[in-house]
Amino acid sequence: MSANKDGDGGWKSFIWNSDKKEFLGRTGGSWFKIFSFYVIFYGCLAGIFIGTIQAMLLTLSNYKPTYQDRVAPPGLSHTPRPDKAEISFTIGKDETYEAYVSHMGEFLKAYNDEKQEDSSKFEDCGDIPKTYTERGELESTDGVRKACRFNRDLLKECSGKADDQFGFREGKPCLIVKLNRIVNFRPRPPASNDSIPEAARPNFQNHLIPIHCSTKREEEADKLGPVEYFGIGAGFPLQYYPYYGKLLQPQYLQPLVAIKFHNITRDFDMRIECKVYGQNIDYSEKDRSQGRFDIKITIKNPSS
Ligand SMILES: *[C@@H]1O[C@H](CO)[C@@H](O)[C@H](O)[C@H]1NC(C)=O
Ligand SMILES: *[C@@H]1O[C@H](CO)[C@@H](O)[C@H](O)[C@H]1NC(C)=O
Repeated sequence: MSANKDGDGGWKSFIWNSDKKEFLGRTGGSWFKIFSFYVIFYGCLAGIFIGTIQAMLLTLSNYKPTYQDRVAPPGLSHTPRPDKAEISFTIGKDETYEAYVSHMGEFLKAYNDEKQEDSSKFEDCGDIPKTYTERGELESTDGVRKACRFNRDLLKECSGKADDQFGFREGKPCLIVKLNRIVNFRPRPPASNDSIPEAARPNFQNHLIPIHCSTKREEEADKLGPVEYFGIGAGFPLQYYPYYGKLLQPQYLQPLVAIKFHNITRDFDMRIECKVYGQNIDYSEKDRSQGRFDIKITIKNPSS
């Protein structure tokens, strides 16, 4: 407090003491030493930090997932995918399904023939289910890998070609379904016909991950009507796996399945569950899209 009695003098001479040539109580040399110490100190810290991260990155591959001992099964996703998983429309009233239909048209554009022409990037893998297509190690040495073509025509009435309303106009809507991509994942089909629910067995086939849709509630089964599956068999054929990742297989196309509901009872909230079956595909209560999905389809008669 006594310093304050001198007025500003104490402060001023603390900031710059011209007698001793001290700035904030230290000489230039002293400041320089402190400054140098901290530059070196923090430099070393940063070096250790960067070094550790670099060493860590060196152990990771750009191509292969490092830790993949327990792969979560792939999500099963569908188009259209409206909010709350509810599809509701009126037969013949285009405006009620316009959004669904345009979403599907957009989605399928990636599968147009002209996108798959380049034979340095694509090859035909046949249209019957076959075993996995091995394209070498998950390393850069072999360069970019080809991907299997997937022809939209395989989806038949649900390809959007002959019927650009995907069956919605006459009340027989299609859904397009795919398994989400997982690098280096080989889905394993069910071991036998007996290992899947009886209703799904007609879709069982060698080298195929079968898909099957049924009603959520068993007592509503008679309201579902016939369900037809289009694609390569009623499911996902193994020759499209494994996926080599964004860098090695940038043009990869997932195989698709189109599901057509021919005669869902009108004016009824039809709750449907679609599931894929395989030895390494299971389901989770937490992630309801793992290996399955739920959807509610309400088809209204124009009169009601
Ligand atoms: C599996 O079972 C279904 C019905 O039980 C049958 O139609 C189908 O041919 C069987 N598939 C094979 C590959 O055995
Ligand atoms: C559709 O289902 C209804 C009963 O829900 C039935 O009366 C009708 O015959 C079915 N139509 C066709 C084409 O199968």
